Amino acid sequence: MQETSSIHGAWASRWIFILAATGSAVGLGNIWKFPYITGENGGGAFVLIYLFCILIVGVPIMMAEVLIGRRARQSPINAMREVAIESGHSGKWSAVGWMGVLAGFMIFSFYSVVAGWVLYYIAGMGTGDFIAIGSDDAGKVFNNLLADRDTLIIWHSIFVVMVMLVIAGGVQKGLENAVKFLMPALFVLLIVLLGYSMQSGGFQQGWGFMFHFDASQLSWDAVLTALGHSFFTLSLGMGAIMAYGSYMPKKASIGSAVLTIAAMDTLVALIAGLAIFPIVFVNGMDPGAGPGLMFITLPVAFGQMPGGQIFGFIFFLLVGIAAWTSAISLIEPATAWMVEKFGWKRLPSCIFLGVIIWILGVAALGSFNFLSDVKLAGFNIFDFMDFVTSNIMLPLGGLFVAIFAGWFMKRYASEHELAISSPTLFNAWYIVLRFIAPVAVAIIFILNLIEKLK
Ligand code: PHE
Repeated sequence: MQETSSIHGAWASRWIFILAATGSAVGLGNIWKFPYITGENGGGAFVLIYLFCILIVGVPIMMAEVLIGRRARQSPINAMREVAIESGHSGKWSAVGWMGVLAGFMIFSFYSVVAGWVLYYIAGMGTGDFIAIGSDDAGKVFNNLLADRDTLIIWHSIFVVMVMLVIAGGVQKGLENAVKFLMPALFVLLIVLLGYSMQSGGFQQGWGFMFHFDASQLSWDAVLTALGHSFFTLSLGMGAIMAYGSYMPKKASIGSAVLTIAAMDTLVALIAGLAIFPIVFVNGMDPGAGPGLMFITLPVAFGQMPGGQIFGFIFFLLVGIAAWTSAISLIEPATAWMVEKFGWKRLPSCIFLGVIIWILGVAALGSFNFLSDVKLAGFNIFDFMDFVTSNIMLPLGGLFVAIFAGWFMKRYASEHELAISSPTLFNAWYIVLRFIAPVAVAIIFILNLIEKLK
């Protein structure tokens, strides 16, 4: 089996694939989550483990996802089945695709809520709501927003519509057009912000916080968080990258594309940290402030700095764009599957899926107001969706992909798809994928479980 094209269309070039996959990878994970979990987990040591996970676990598994997708040229659910059957195994491997679709919905539920906050802040920064705001007031603005169910629903709904409009346009007219304009804009905004933060006075302190290795700060919890985050930030373990891979041109090299994507994603996370922490330190604030770091600490900081209003606006615009190009990829696997399975057009599939994710998002935003009493395994709905997907479903999905591509898929199929000219490099990838990545994921999983049960 070697499909030459997907019924959904294909990226115009290898670069468009790289832009789209980078658009998926670079998102709230890099700019909102990475800085605050780094802050909560003590800085440098956490960053080091995270980088290690990206390289040893993330990159090889991302290559596996892309190659499975491109080999089958179908949605992840059908791709897993087809490639398994091609290699003489059970079509039940499609279950990995199903778990991915479910994870995509669950991630979207809290992702869209946070993206809604971002849209609210873009508007707020644009209209000068945060000029010279104090930290008490900034906390109040954020907490009032969280308590205000209807406002949250409005911004969440706007975000759902933005995402669905792009998906409804299809691979070329929707996704490709969006990333072609949004990604360059994102990079320009990021560089502008980095420049601003470098002259803010706290750069050295921010740098020290992120790159000073202090082993005493490490816990198994931090290691699991770093592992889970490396999946989340690279969009792995749920089929997004597999779906994007299925639209990739046949001749394009997978290895170099994946390295570029992982490098860009990591760079954006590190730059986001280097843009945020100096501002935090210069203003004497707490880097471990949690999910509110970006929404309380930063507006205060921006509000007090020269030009802060404009840069605050630019900052939230950047985050909004990043969230948008990621959220698309959360729903693309399910959309592609519906089109394949029922022969529906994109638009009705989008409307159907849009309703589902809208409801899930309302449930997640209810965690802060009308559903605050609902607890799942001790978490509110919002935190539950985040914890279960990042720390369990994505690593598990990635583990299955590694085991599948490493042990079940025919070696010649991978060799053919990856087309790495150096046998040594291919073997290196194969060994890491078969042994090192799955073992690392399994060990971190098990040790964490033991720790929890103690
Ligand atoms: N990678 C995205 C981010 O860092 C989140 C995401 C996860 C997107 C999984 C798609 C799939 O924000």
